[in-house]
Amino acid sequence: MGRSTCFQTSHIFGFFLLLVFMESKNKVESQVEPPPPPHDEIRALHEIAAELGKKDWNFSENPCNNKSSWYTPPLPPNVPQPTVVKNSSVTCNCSLNGGQCHIYTIRLSGLDLSGVLPRSLSKLPYLKEIVLFRNFLSGTIPREWATMKLEFVSLSSNRLSGPVPSYLGNITTLTFLSLDDNLFSGTIPPELGKLVNMETLILNANYLTGELPPALANLVRMKQLEMQASGFEGPFPSTLSALNSLVELRISDLHGEGSRFPNLQNMKNLSRLVLRSCNISGPIPPYIWEMPLGTLDLSFNKLEGNFSGNEKTLFTFLTSNLLTGPITEWINTRDSHYQIDLSYNNISASLEPTSCTEHLNLFKSFSGGNNLGQQSNCLKNFPCSKDEDLGGPAKYFPLRETWETSSSGYFWDTSVTSKDYIAQNVSILKMNNSELYTRARLSPLSLTYYIRCLANGSYTVKLHFAEIVIRDNSSFQSLGRRVFDVYIQEKLELKDFNIKNAAKAADKEVIRSFKTVVRDKTLSIRFHWAGKGTTATPKRGIYGPLISAISVESDSKPQFSKVWNTKMKMVVGAVVSAMCLIVLTLGILWRRGYFGGGKMSREQDGTIIAIKQLSTISRQGDREFLNELGMISGLQHPNLVRLYGCCVEGTNLLLVYEYMENNSLARALSGKPRTFSSFVALT
Ligand SMILES: *[C@@H]1O[C@H](CO)[C@@H](O)[C@H](O)[C@H]1NC(C)=O
Ligand SMILES: *[C@@H]1O[C@H](CO)[C@@H](O)[C@H](O)[C@H]1NC(C)=O
Ligand SMILES: *[C@@H]1O[C@H](CO)[C@@H](O)[C@H](O)[C@H]1NC(C)=O
Ligand SMILES: *[C@@H]1O[C@H](CO)[C@@H](O)[C@H](O)[C@H]1NC(C)=O
Ligand SMILES: *[C@@H]1O[C@H](CO)[C@@H](O)[C@H](O)[C@H]1NC(C)=O
Ligand SMILES: *[C@@H]1O[C@H](CO)[C@@H](O)[C@H](O)[C@H]1NC(C)=O
Ligand SMILES: *[C@@H]1O[C@H](CO)[C@@H](O)[C@H](O)[C@H]1NC(C)=O
Ligand SMILES: *[C@@H]1O[C@H](CO)[C@@H](O)[C@H](O)[C@H]1NC(C)=O
Ligand SMILES: *[C@@H]1O[C@H](CO)[C@@H](O)[C@H](O)[C@H]1NC(C)=O
Ligand SMILES: *[C@@H]1O[C@H](CO)[C@@H](O)[C@H](O)[C@H]1NC(C)=O
Ligand SMILES: *[C@@H]1O[C@H](CO)[C@@H](O)[C@H](O)[C@H]1NC(C)=O
Ligand SMILES: *[C@@H]1O[C@H](CO)[C@@H](O)[C@H](O)[C@H]1NC(C)=O
Repeated sequence: MGRSTCFQTSHIFGFFLLLVFMESKNKVESQVEPPPPPHDEIRALHEIAAELGKKDWNFSENPCNNKSSWYTPPLPPNVPQPTVVKNSSVTCNCSLNGGQCHIYTIRLSGLDLSGVLPRSLSKLPYLKEIVLFRNFLSGTIPREWATMKLEFVSLSSNRLSGPVPSYLGNITTLTFLSLDDNLFSGTIPPELGKLVNMETLILNANYLTGELPPALANLVRMKQLEMQASGFEGPFPSTLSALNSLVELRISDLHGEGSRFPNLQNMKNLSRLVLRSCNISGPIPPYIWEMPLGTLDLSFNKLEGNFSGNEKTLFTFLTSNLLTGPITEWINTRDSHYQIDLSYNNISASLEPTSCTEHLNLFKSFSGGNNLGQQSNCLKNFPCSKDEDLGGPAKYFPLRETWETSSSGYFWDTSVTSKDYIAQNVSILKMNNSELYTRARLSPLSLTYYIRCLANGSYTVKLHFAEIVIRDNSSFQSLGRRVFDVYIQEKLELKDFNIKNAAKAADKEVIRSFKTVVRDKTLSIRFHWAGKGTTATPKRGIYGPLISAISVESDSKPQFSKVWNTKMKMVVGAVVSAMCLIVLTLGILWRRGYFGGGKMSREQDGTIIAIKQLSTISRQGDREFLNELGMISGLQHPNLVRLYGCCVEGTNLLLVYEYMENNSLARALSGKPRTFSSFVALT
């Protein structure tokens, strides 16, 4: 009883408090339409609008009133983020001196403003924060800014060019500076070493040159330093070791002279370390394995020594090094939260993985070149293949049995889902065979297609590309630069390839054709992001190679060609032509027993098709037979059932027909689950 009373009392008390609170809140709100900023600042805003090309500021409203159109409130929590977050916000600080309000922050992002960085910004003496990322601004950083007391400057993803000016070093109040994904060139001025309050410096994706400036060692408060694909040259300045407060260090793609592993021993708080493609040789120092790193990416270097790893590190990328020694036992026991990529190394033990997971990439990690079985035989299939592969980092997975891929790397700065490994067209594609280009395979770093079981001889490989992500309008979305290399049979065939430049437009196809020779039954096609181009346009995490479709055709007897789409969902059944896709989907459904009694089934896009299995045909006969099929499938006549395609499995042939109501073709289908070893697109 007493307890119950007590409870109610507290209720009443709470209610009373609430009333008091609401009353005072109403009082405050009615009081606080803040005064506008001084006239000088309003005038400066007019000039700034003209310089930026910002046309919709409403000067009839008070810029300090956060209920006016000058302010974009934060998105409510749990609302799905739009693809492009537009923000057009001005805020004031009214507690600086004597109740006067001053412009304090300006945030204009995702707006495609096409002007220049405004000189008049310096007429806002209290401005602390200027955010102009994802616009279409050109020119460089105005000299006038040097006199300001700016703390936070974000200029990412614009068209800013010219050298990084030395007078930036005068803004010693700076704690955050991002210049990434622009066209800045020249060397980093040593004056930046004066920015001793700097905590975050992002210089990725520019055309900068020279060595990393040793003066950066003065920035001892630095927590985050990013210099990826910036254009810099090695070696590592030893002075970087002084940045003991670093939590995140990302440096990649240093050209030129190599170096040993830098001394990072005192960076006790380091949690993300990326030193990719930096021409680092020698051993990995043992303390690295002791550090509490969430991410460790040392891929594409010349690092030696035993791999030891850290069980607690979520992402371990050591792709393409010279690591040796046995693989530690625990890597086989990590669950799918952990990604480990040891592909392309020189691990001496002939130990094959005891259990293969999609999160452990051991493609070519063993000395001797490959760990997939004997060269003389068809490469062995890993037992861990899945029908619905959706991509992901650190992966080695077979595409059916004859096509396999190895994907390395990780898309930074986005909460990565398997969707990030597939691009989808954002506008209508008008080219012939547009279905080949509506989806494309993406990889953050390196993507290898490995096609097995081919006969010796010469082949024509056709690579189908179309840039369906980066746009070609007057928007920041067109400022992305996707640059990568393509190797066929490990021969560099395309260097610094840029799909949009090659096609001279977005959404337009480029087909590149290559002759190659197969000597050991296998063909490899590798797409490699060479650390050039942008990393954050149209959004952070957009970079790496893109491939829409691949076709491989034998030159000796060109009866048929294999055409595969690299679109993901189908990759495992990586299809390219819609026809083949249908075959595959059926194959999958079939394997799952959907066709038990030889029934028809509905394919995913709603087309009903019929399958027929032919009785065994002879080995010699199948090529001719396929040839015939090719012709039949091209025929279209109202009295003929359309043949969509076929699958060859050993000596069995499966035919895929248009489904006709009351037709009995499909009744010939046997319901036994099968794995297909080869697909033929007859389009
Ligand atoms: C600007 O603000 C005033 C006052 O709120 C309003 O009456 C006017 O319609 C606004 N102008 C535009 C173009 O939105
Ligand atoms: C809007 O301004 C008032 C004071 O004028 C302040 O109390 C409130 O926190 C501000 N709201 C936002 C979202 O900034
Ligand atoms: C826009 O910027 C303002 C000021 O920095 C910020 O308070 C607000 O959350 C941002 N809005 C969105 C939608 O990002
Ligand atoms: C106003 O400026 C003071 C002093 O720089 C700062 O402490 C305070 O957080 C600022 N207020 C707002 C609302 O930004
Ligand atoms: C930067 O500061 C130096 C001295 O600290 C001064 O001589 C120079 O004029 C300043 N540069 C600009 C552009 O204000
Ligand atoms: C590491 O982080 C802790 C806690 O945030 C902090 O107290 C310490 O100063 C940091 N150490 C360095 C070297 O920055
Ligand atoms: C890596 O460094 C070595 C010498 O340290 C140099 O000979 C080599 O050319 C460099 N490699 C690249 C790709 O720059
Ligand atoms: C590497 O591992 C091998 C085999 O366990 C061991 O014999 C060797 O001493 C190790 N090397 C180093 C440098 O730790
Ligand atoms: C790889 O390791 C083997 C010994 O296991 C060694 O003979 C070979 O030279 C190494 N390859 C490279 C490129 O270091
Ligand atoms: C993608 O391209 C196809 C073929 O042109 C078209 O039908 C589809 O509408 C496009 N998707 C989008 C989102 O524009
Ligand atoms: C499509 O192919 C036909 C025949 O090859 C050709 O005439 C036509 O120009 C092509 N259309 C486009 C948009 O490329
Ligand atoms: C393929 O060619 C290689 C070398 O050119 C030869 O050793 C091998 O026996 C050939 N294989 C077949 C099946 O012809």
